Amino acid sequence: MNTAIMQEFEDFIVASAPKVESFHPHYQKALWEMLLAGGKRFRPALCLCVVDSIAPQMLKNAFIPALALEALHTYSLIHDDLPCMDNSPLRRGYPTLHTTYDETLALLVGDALNTYTFELLSTAKLDPQSKIALIYELSHNAGFSGMVLGQVLDCAFENTTISLEQLKMIHQNKTLKLIATSLRFGAIIGNASDEIRQCLDRFGEVLGLFFQVRDDLLDVLGDTLIEGKTLHNDEGKNTYVNLLGIEGAKKECDELIESMYALLTTLPKNLATNLLGLIEPYFVIKG
Ligand code: IPE
Ligand code: IPE
Ligand code: MG
Ligand code: MG
Ligand code: MG
Repeated sequence: MNTAIMQEFEDFIVASAPKVESFHPHYQKALWEMLLAGGKRFRPALCLCVVDSIAPQMLKNAFIPALALEALHTYSLIHDDLPCMDNSPLRRGYPTLHTTYDETLALLVGDALNTYTFELLSTAKLDPQSKIALIYELSHNAGFSGMVLGQVLDCAFENTTISLEQLKMIHQNKTLKLIATSLRFGAIIGNASDEIRQCLDRFGEVLGLFFQVRDDLLDVLGDTLIEGKTLHNDEGKNTYVNLLGIEGAKKECDELIESMYALLTTLPKNLATNLLGLIEPYFVIKG
């Protein structure tokens, strides 16, 4: 993704911090702290990449929806790190909110970011039909039968081995759906043809699964300084590495990469080239 656009998006995140009048000593700072902490901005980049490729005149209008994706994702990370879930002290190179403050504030900042996501979408500079479509897609894919379902299953079956089929369902829900939705956001904002939408959906299904299998590998092979989060934290989890071994998980990644290359050929050339430029650096997994 064009680095100037992503830098502009970073500035937009900084400028978009909500202002809260209250006498709480930390709430204002904690609210936006994990968004400002950084991260790869993968989901906003996917959305912006699609818009930039198919309807560049809409790029600025895509910033609020892209921020909504990042706010939703950041809420999911704050909750994912809580002691009752993955119990992780480090995220995006910083102590997690429950470590810096307390669990109560971390939980509630997550709640606030979740609802703020949809407030943001309601204010996007788009026609009402597109806004409703974005709100539907994100609430449907992040909610009770999407990301939340994936997280429920992920945590409920800790220390209990499940089948690969069941693990795939977890990954599809907890990770794939938000990634596929990010591409679909771009298609909606850019008013893509039905054919492009369908091809992007198929591509998103492979990319989303790849992203979580890669993340499973990084838990064992990654560098904490580079990933900025607690690694070696998945011992009790069902992951592709724990079910298939490192080599098995790598093979799965290779197959998914092959599928992505094949699916890119079904997209318009400039969209395919731009998407490949964005995701190709993720294909190299250390170790
Ligand atoms: C982490 O997501 C959680 C997963 C779904 C694997 P990212 O790897 O995109 O985390 P950030 O946004 O860069 O911090
Ligand atoms: C988290 O998966 C997926 C979310 C919905 C946040 P992980 O628990 O593997 O993500 P990391 O490894 O903590 O980033
Ligand atoms: Mg988790
Ligand atoms: Mg986790
Ligand atoms: Mg992980």
